[in-house]
Amino acid sequence: MKSMRKILVTSALPYANGSIHLGHLVEYIQTDIWCRHQRLAGNDLYYVCADDTHGTPVMLRAEKENITPEQLVDMVHKEHSQDFSDFNISFDNFYSTNSIENKVLSESIYKALVKNNKIEMKEIEQFYDSQKEMFLPDRFIKGQCPKCKAMDQYGDSCESCGSTYNPTELINAYSVISGTTPIKKKTDHFFFKLSECEEFLDAWTNSGTLQVEASNKLKEWFKAGLSDWDISRDAPYFGFEIPDAPGKFFYVWLDAPIGYMASFKKLADDRNLSFDEYWKEGSETELIHFIGKDILYFHALFWPATLSFSGYRTPTKIYAHGFLTVNNEKMSKSRGTFVTARSYLDTIKNPDYLRYYYFSKLNDSMEDIDLNLDDFLAKVNSDLVGKFINIPSRTSGFITKYFSNTIISAEKITHTESHELINELLAIKEEVVGLYEARQFSKLNRLLMSFTERVNEYVNRLAPWILAKNEAEQVSMSPLHQICSAALQSFRILSIYYAPVMPNLTSKIASFYGESDFKSINLIHKDIVTISQYTHLMTRLEQISIDEMLSQNSN
Ligand code: MSP
Ligand code: ZN
Repeated sequence: MKSMRKILVTSALPYANGSIHLGHLVEYIQTDIWCRHQRLAGNDLYYVCADDTHGTPVMLRAEKENITPEQLVDMVHKEHSQDFSDFNISFDNFYSTNSIENKVLSESIYKALVKNNKIEMKEIEQFYDSQKEMFLPDRFIKGQCPKCKAMDQYGDSCESCGSTYNPTELINAYSVISGTTPIKKKTDHFFFKLSECEEFLDAWTNSGTLQVEASNKLKEWFKAGLSDWDISRDAPYFGFEIPDAPGKFFYVWLDAPIGYMASFKKLADDRNLSFDEYWKEGSETELIHFIGKDILYFHALFWPATLSFSGYRTPTKIYAHGFLTVNNEKMSKSRGTFVTARSYLDTIKNPDYLRYYYFSKLNDSMEDIDLNLDDFLAKVNSDLVGKFINIPSRTSGFITKYFSNTIISAEKITHTESHELINELLAIKEEVVGLYEARQFSKLNRLLMSFTERVNEYVNRLAPWILAKNEAEQVSMSPLHQICSAALQSFRILSIYYAPVMPNLTSKIASFYGESDFKSINLIHKDIVTISQYTHLMTRLEQISIDEMLSQNSN
């Protein structure tokens, strides 16, 4: 028997200044399917996440809404938790970076970095809003693009011509907060000396932790040279104050990934697990981060360096995915394609449709994936309703009617072709496991759908509705009994293979077979002899629901 793996998995922490949308869900669904698979395969896995709460946007939004930042992050935490639970994202803990565990860990990691001579103070010059009395992040400064002269461009890049620059280069810069002209002001910031970590990072990024595309991206960054990383921000700032540095706060990206540890720390305390077993230097458990390609720099450079130079283990794998487009375009508020998780749940309702669709499109690369809404509707209806649940919907009635809900157990089926079909389905188990493990979801779906089609084709050809015409023949082990039993045994195996993808649907299917839930992939070998009466498992997705969803998001 293979030994059980111990795995800690994370998804990137969503910002607490906005709602969860279908783009985020690419990541949470991808990670969740992977985690559910590992649990089904018998591995010991924890999946943690948290809200990313700190920074200027949360501070300013709270101010605008006349509440404290703490009140805002509590509110958003409730909303996000509900969204995730309604999409069946199976976090073991969904925490917050504004937690005591995170404060303690962030401070101690910072102190360890100081001790290891990796932190240095430097004077920098930054834009300052003298009316609001605060330093301005790049996104809070606007002005005319220095290259193409377009008006109202952000401080870091121009949306009109695409060039990037420093906020100091903007023409007629103004503060987004007060509208006044920012002044330049000197201040001391703390820097993490990333430039001294090159040797370590070079070795680490080439040690098989990253996808090929990701490590190529890193090579480009290495070539350009690593700059030291500015990890502090001046008050007013919503975050953790830096020890022995009044008025200086940790930049949000310092404490955000530490939030992975903090979320696990809380879980470990609640469930009596060993924190050190998962985080201490030299730990042999697996640590896997799922992220979007936009935050690779933070996870593949800053994060391993932070961990390594503060006495912790580094990640085993970083799995980066691409971005979601809707109908081949960037998600857009004006087109109504910036769809929130909540509006999906209110209109389309069943999360399994979207989980299935993403599953059918995802792979292990950083390529973008497209949600084409016509294709979404067509695929869900044809694959899931037309093919998958079509199997029990046209065979189980005969079992109820003639065989008092009793089916023949898999190994007792004597009809050769039927027997072979089941055996072939059992035989792909290792392939299924391998494809889940490798995040080759779209390839795995093609495999599972090809078997779904084969079972349908088999039912079509052997036509139980014709066999059923002769009522007198309907005794146990009759051809009708054999064929419907084989179809239902096959459907059950397929459902176990699909369990990580569609938890709502497959838990209904489990109870159809008298089981509480599919908890192990080894259940494909279980001897099943009864079913319950069939009740419809899934309804068609209707265009009107999609239209309603879009209209909810276009104002
Ligand atoms: N707070 C940071 C992550 C900190 S992790 C220590 C952040 N938050 S986010 O809310 O902007 O994004 C959360 C995750 O969702 C990221 O991995 C991001 O790549 C992913 N996505 C956000 N929009 C997305 C799409 N449109 N498509 C696919 N993934 C997207 O980044
Ligand atoms: Zn421009």
